[in-house]
Amino acid sequence: MDVSARIQGSFSRQLTQAFVSQWQQTNPEHQIIYRDIGSFPIPHIDETWVAAYESAPEERTAEMKAAIALSDTLIDELFAADCYVVGMPMYNLTVPSSFKAYLDQVIRRDRTLLLENSAGSGQLSTKKLLVITTRKYNYRTGSGREDRDFLAPYLSAIFNVLGLTDITYIHADKLASSEQEQSLAQAMATTRQLATTF
Ligand SMILES: Cc1cc2nc3c(=O)[nH]c(=O)nc-3n(C[C@H](O)[C@H](O)[C@H](O)COP(=O)(O)O)c2cc1C
Repeated sequence: MDVSARIQGSFSRQLTQAFVSQWQQTNPEHQIIYRDIGSFPIPHIDETWVAAYESAPEERTAEMKAAIALSDTLIDELFAADCYVVGMPMYNLTVPSSFKAYLDQVIRRDRTLLLENSAGSGQLSTKKLLVITTRKYNYRTGSGREDRDFLAPYLSAIFNVLGLTDITYIHADKLASSEQEQSLAQAMATTRQLATTF
């Protein structure tokens, strides 16, 4: 999945493409489901969507079913895949709003987050996730900016809620500095390497 709003000059798209082409060489028999939510944004949930979410499936009207049809398709894709790879730019210290809109669509208590003994039980526990992040600045431990990274901690928290704990991050950062080239080369090498084993 690509989340960057730009195509021209997007570093995260370069990295996901490198991952996919290496991964396909290693796993020619496997299929890829691709979503470009940066170019084709996922709509925000609305009143009818919430009404559907709060109704039992058998009580949903035709209008409610239509409102959550895309949500069902996106969830089907999540269940169909064994692993997820996301190119994720940092926008204003966290995930792009297009990705938050996606999450709002796929977190459903009748499908991905079932209620068991009044606690949520995430249904993605067998999956694994690779997030390739791109950002202008360095938010790593010791950078002095680590407390402003609301991207990786948020993603880990929300995917943990869905039961998914096998999460790997590759950070291509310092993209506005003289270290850009080195940082990208390092992220590219790590991405290609991981694609042979993921
Ligand atoms: C709307 C917007 C907000 C951004 N906010 C941040 C930010 O908070 N921190 C940061 O380090 N970089 C920020 N950036 C820089 C991007 O993370 C950086 O350009 C990255 O390379 C974008 O990913 P892409 O190259 O795949 O498009 C922002 C860029 C945009 C367009």
